[in-house]
Amino acid sequence: MSAPVLQAEALTRHYRVGRGLFRETATVRAVAEASFALHAGRTLAVVGESGCGKSTLARMVTLIEAPTAGELKIDGTDVTAADDATRKRLRQEVQIVFQDPYGSLNPRKKVGTIIEEPLAINTKMSRAERADAARTMMARVGLRPEHYDRYPHMFSGGQRQRIAVARALMLKPRILVADEPVSALDVSIQAQILNLLMDLQDEFQLAYLFISHDLSVVRHIADDVMVMYLGRAVEHGGHAALFERPAHPYTRALLASTPTVDPTRRRERIRLEGELPSPLDPPPGCAFHRRCPHATELCARERPELRPFDGRAVACHHAETVG
Ligand SMILES: Nc1ncnc2c1ncn2[C@@H]1O[C@H](COP(=O)(O)OP(=O)(O)OP(=O)(O)O)[C@@H](O)[C@H]1O
Ligand code: SF4
Ligand SMILES: [Mg+2]
Repeated sequence: MSAPVLQAEALTRHYRVGRGLFRETATVRAVAEASFALHAGRTLAVVGESGCGKSTLARMVTLIEAPTAGELKIDGTDVTAADDATRKRLRQEVQIVFQDPYGSLNPRKKVGTIIEEPLAINTKMSRAERADAARTMMARVGLRPEHYDRYPHMFSGGQRQRIAVARALMLKPRILVADEPVSALDVSIQAQILNLLMDLQDEFQLAYLFISHDLSVVRHIADDVMVMYLGRAVEHGGHAALFERPAHPYTRALLASTPTVDPTRRRERIRLEGELPSPLDPPPGCAFHRRCPHATELCARERPELRPFDGRAVACHHAETVG
């Protein structure tokens, strides 16, 4: 495989928050020591329940937010240590599409203006050149020429997501972060947008960081999967390993709660019992131990490190016996 476009080494993000009657400060460990690589033409899916740190990770990767610790390299250059000019250049290499295209598209601007905006801000292209480029991209994402002069509210959710994708690609980024890009859409529309994203990936050799709380959504698009729980990766590996031979009890539980149409693929029911613990007050030992059917006394005491196991990385003391 070619050199990664982006490399994250132990990316960590903490927030100081006030809590309690006297607003004593506490630390939320939103993301702890996340390491991964993104490659041209490939998709890394990041999956986990609400609050596990997916969007925080997305904000660090898109340089919207600086990590508390860790390293982020784009094309081998450490972004966190780069000067302003370098960071500005590298920032253009990573674009993001959000879940809610309502929130991310200015309702007072026409679609053409929205799509051209990145060019107006970051390039010296003339108005006519920008309009040309926008119309070309609109056609590429399945929007019609007459849409250029319309406003976002005149579109369906799926069409709005096409507008958001078109805008994100105008600066020819090499990395696209998609934070729950289809979660707000009807199931019938989800597949259309996923197919569009896969076509665009092929055409532009984009590296995707694809975020979803739903494993069934990433099944068709992911090359690699990283499952997160309370800010930490608990399992990380290739598509086949994660979907066909999941090793971590949490991955197994997520898969078991994912509807499958094929009864031969139906697996043991592991229900996710118990509440998701607060990231302000994570349980000692393995953060999953209060919900895990395989937990032992060791699990309550010692946090399992991510370690190589059966062709992927897993953070579980008992991976050998869980399967
Ligand atoms: N700016 C912030 N200040 C304080 N805490 C934050 C901030 N942003 C996120 N958090 C906390 O960090 C944790 C991770 O949040 P994050 O939004 O990254 O999760 P998520 O996986 O994207 O969740 P969801 O699926 O609901 O979008 C949560 O506990 C959240 O409350
Ligand atoms: S370390 Fe223990 S509690 Fe954590 S997932 Fe593995 S078996 Fe379950
Ligand atoms: Mg989120």
